[in-house]
Amino acid sequence: MSTPTATPLDGKVVVVPGGTGNVGEGIVRAFLTAGATVVVPSRSQSRLDALAKLIGPELTGNLKTIEAGYGTFDDTDALATKLVEELGHIDHVVSAVGGWWMGKALWQISEEDWQKVFVDVATSHMALARSFVPRLAEDGSYTGIAGFSGQKPYPAAGIVSMQGAAQLMMREAFSAELKGQRRINDLILGPVINRSRPGGDPNWLTADQVGEAAVAVARTPSIADEHVVLDTVEDLKKTLARAAG
Ligand SMILES: NC(=O)c1ccc[n+]([C@@H]2O[C@H](COP(=O)([O-])OP(=O)(O)OC[C@H]3O[C@@H](n4cnc5c(N)ncnc54)[C@H](OP(=O)(O)O)[C@@H]3O)[C@@H](O)[C@H]2O)c1
Repeated sequence: MSTPTATPLDGKVVVVPGGTGNVGEGIVRAFLTAGATVVVPSRSQSRLDALAKLIGPELTGNLKTIEAGYGTFDDTDALATKLVEELGHIDHVVSAVGGWWMGKALWQISEEDWQKVFVDVATSHMALARSFVPRLAEDGSYTGIAGFSGQKPYPAAGIVSMQGAAQLMMREAFSAELKGQRRINDLILGPVINRSRPGGDPNWLTADQVGEAAVAVARTPSIADEHVVLDTVEDLKKTLARAAG
């Protein structure tokens, strides 16, 4: 499997919040490979510098990094406004914000855990979608990256599951309200092989394969208002086949 050799996303602007992360890296690489200009905001310049090194000089020509917060409604409004002003249009957004956490049963978590794992991440997802969806190009798309634990409770990671479930319902609520005005989807991932976990079941997707799926969803108008389940490489093949028509 490989990203289509054509560059169907030439001239398109794709924003990848969370692009510095384990899964985000693969998404950034795939959109750059497909010819898009990719914008990655991050709360940390050092994480952006590390991302640029991971992506490598062959592809970073169209990578724009920006140190900026995106954890509040004001932050994301300011970010989206600035990007539209500077780049003229935003075609696709793929949000890979959030990460894994575990170790406590629900009755053991502290208010600090709750704030960090549920409130901060849920607020960022809501703020991003709220600011970017109305600013997307008419034929653009918004894709949220989510995990299997949003549909199936994972012991000792209950607050990750709860946040994931909120994220999936946020997408459904957007779809119900948008009524086709913009395409919005989520990718529900199984475990992903990535730079922090380089080994794993060969049926699991790699971060680069998650990127392939995200590119396919962005460029396929018929994939709209869906939970795209990507537990295994078999699921990826089905999604790519759908995108290929
Ligand atoms: N890794 C997996 O195996 C796996 C499996 C299934 C699903 N997923 C899903 O993939 C997405 C990304 O996971 P990941 O493993 O790539 O996580 P990660 O490596 O921890 O990266 C998470 C990214 O989210 C950004 N972020 C912004 N606000 C945040 C906040 N309040 N708390 C934590 N991170 C925040 C960070 O960007 P900055 O710090 O640069 O701003 C960071 O780059 C999540 O939705 C996760 O559920 C991952």
